[in-house]
Amino acid sequence: MCGIVGAVAQRDITPILIEGLKRLEYRGYDSCGVALHVDGTLQRSRSTSRVADLQAQVEKAHLQGFTGIAHTRWATHGAPASHNAHPHFSRERIALVHNGIIENHDELRAELTAAGYRFESQTDTEVIAHLVDHLYTGDLFETVQQAVKRLQGAYAIAVFCRDEPHRVVGARQGSPLIVGVGKGENFLASDAMALAGTTDQIIYLEEGDVVDLQLQRYWIVDANGQDVKREVRTVLAHTGAAELGPYRHYMQKEIFEQPRAIGDTLEGVTAIMPELFGDQAYKVFKQIDSVLILACGTSYYAGLTAKYWIESLAHIPVNVEIASEYRYRDSVPNPNALVVTISQSGETADTLAALKHARSMDMVNSLTICNVSTSAMVRECMLSYITRAGVEVGVASTKAFTTQLAALFLLTLSLAQVRGHLSEEQEADYVKQMRHLPSAISAVLALEPQIIAWAEEFARKENALFLGRGLHYPIALEGALKLKEISYIHAEAYPAGELKHGPLALVTNEMPVVTVAPKDTLIEKLKSNMQEVRARGGQLYVFADADSKITPSEGVHVIRLPEHYGKLSPILHVVPLQLLAYHTALARGTDVDKPRNLAKSVTVE
Ligand code: M6R
Repeated sequence: MCGIVGAVAQRDITPILIEGLKRLEYRGYDSCGVALHVDGTLQRSRSTSRVADLQAQVEKAHLQGFTGIAHTRWATHGAPASHNAHPHFSRERIALVHNGIIENHDELRAELTAAGYRFESQTDTEVIAHLVDHLYTGDLFETVQQAVKRLQGAYAIAVFCRDEPHRVVGARQGSPLIVGVGKGENFLASDAMALAGTTDQIIYLEEGDVVDLQLQRYWIVDANGQDVKREVRTVLAHTGAAELGPYRHYMQKEIFEQPRAIGDTLEGVTAIMPELFGDQAYKVFKQIDSVLILACGTSYYAGLTAKYWIESLAHIPVNVEIASEYRYRDSVPNPNALVVTISQSGETADTLAALKHARSMDMVNSLTICNVSTSAMVRECMLSYITRAGVEVGVASTKAFTTQLAALFLLTLSLAQVRGHLSEEQEADYVKQMRHLPSAISAVLALEPQIIAWAEEFARKENALFLGRGLHYPIALEGALKLKEISYIHAEAYPAGELKHGPLALVTNEMPVVTVAPKDTLIEKLKSNMQEVRARGGQLYVFADADSKITPSEGVHVIRLPEHYGKLSPILHVVPLQLLAYHTALARGTDVDKPRNLAKSVTVE
């Protein structure tokens, strides 16, 4: 989703802005642009293509400057067209980029139109540019502090003014923005990765902060206009410019990285210790009476899987809520609950808002499972476990999901131990199984050729059903999400017992029905559900395991995972579903790493 880079320096900052945008590309965008202060004027270049195209335009025009801002836009208000791309100008005096959504933009637009401003775009962002110009006092820092008081909604902005050549001002509320501190130069960006190689001295701005960047100094005020000092941290951000190596797409690479990612996530875990989640974890785990999990998308499905684990092994009741629903729902708060957020990016606006909503209702025990140690989610939570999947570039989440599951299983065992439900023998057994996961996943990845053969058939379909039961129902949901988001095939998942309550009406011999069928306590029930599908001509594509005793027959295609993996089986069974989605998308020729309409980090609600 939208990315911001800004700089004020004594050297040409165009390459820094363009490089920063490239590093933010993985978040997803549909247009991009850059604006620079050039000889007392504002100059800009915008593109509805890739950042590489913007770079070519900038080089052709010999655009150079010491002060500037740049942006990748993921369209919310107004189509992905050049005139809607940022930066937006107001009266050739103010240049501004924005991430977020301004909810009162209609009202402000009417007011500014009446004041004589002409709008060139359909964006809510142009409203902020004109508002800043309208309120301009000759001091941009002071003006932006006044302007943001008029904004309702979420924003991170970077702005500069023709009349103040060595100054960039930033502000944030609800969307991430960091300051990069340099020597005689300062920077703004959506995340530290955008500035890797330029500076590792990073300040995470807090909600309501406004920052004034000049060459030799920076100044921050909080939401009340009070001067504040924010900690400067040394952040060794990865560039994210991971090499593809032998892979065609990042998604494929990330699927194949899972043995390494899980190994890293569980590195050093030789025994179950609540302290893995933070110093206060033992005390918190002892006193809570329930767990509330908040997340979106794939991370939500990881949460659903954890519900089965925690209730079965730690005997603690668990609620799992879609963050965008929970934040607006009239729920009954329980101050004794442990609030767990799950997020790859740690920036997802709905999950952050749901966490704050829970806290506002006195639910203060919070823990996050997150892949970005410097993210807002980690900073906001009392306890945390950092998955070590590494940068995930593909929009479709793969290694982030399996590492989240590994961390959630660890959480389950820690809760079980603190509550006296984990014997030493069980602990040793589970730790052994967890440590074996990387090689078990490698064995599943070796099934790729068989999955490719299935994918060629799926590529010709427009609909698919996914079935699972118990622990594997969330895996069926995740499999359907993967298929729909990158191949654009309509896919739905059901707990198999629900078939006859409605979805069975969809089953014909044209309908592929993917079934997640390892041996578990519900396998015989699942086999009956499969018969219901076959009796209506449905084609079954079954992912069984070594113990589930399902053999191929007419209309029943079977791929058998090499090992039976008990409670940890979801981590293995999602892998062939990722490969099925990937190869189906490949056969259909879609943009696998950047599927249409989607963004990697969803920083607006
Ligand atoms: O960064 P998060 O884990 O908070 O992101 C949540 C969802 O946006 C994300 O999992 C999304 O559903 C994936 N693109 C699915 O592959």
